[in-house]
Amino acid sequence: MSKHVVARAAEIPPGGRKLVTVRGRPIAVFNLGGEFFGLLNRCPHEGGPMCEGVLTGLIEADVPGQYRYSRVGEVLRCPWHGWEFDIRTGRSWCDPEKVGLRNYPVEVAPGARVAEGPYVAETIPVRIEDDYVVVVL
Ligand code: FES
Repeated sequence: MSKHVVARAAEIPPGGRKLVTVRGRPIAVFNLGGEFFGLLNRCPHEGGPMCEGVLTGLIEADVPGQYRYSRVGEVLRCPWHGWEFDIRTGRSWCDPEKVGLRNYPVEVAPGARVAEGPYVAETIPVRIEDDYVVVVL
């Protein structure tokens, strides 16, 4: 498992998204109220660009005419034909056992930790103040 810095955290504010490429994979990174999610930017139907999809919620009804709207912003709709996916898992709403988007863990790491590495060399004091978005492959 490898980690890849893809953006400064401030570049993807809550409600925002950014398309990144990690080792040749196009990954759509979403910030949902401070939680980050990474999904392959290729719809399993016909390859639609998921980073351009609409974020919506879950509509349920037990009887006609009485609807509940929940999980606001957690359903990602493909911009091409409207297939919908759970942003937390990548699973399709219509066939969650068979259809889904590949998802990638995303974390926010302080700049000081991102700058750390396994090697030690002569150092010059440097201060990093921002947080960074990190995709895990
Ligand atoms: S390409 Fe996504 S629903 Fe068709």
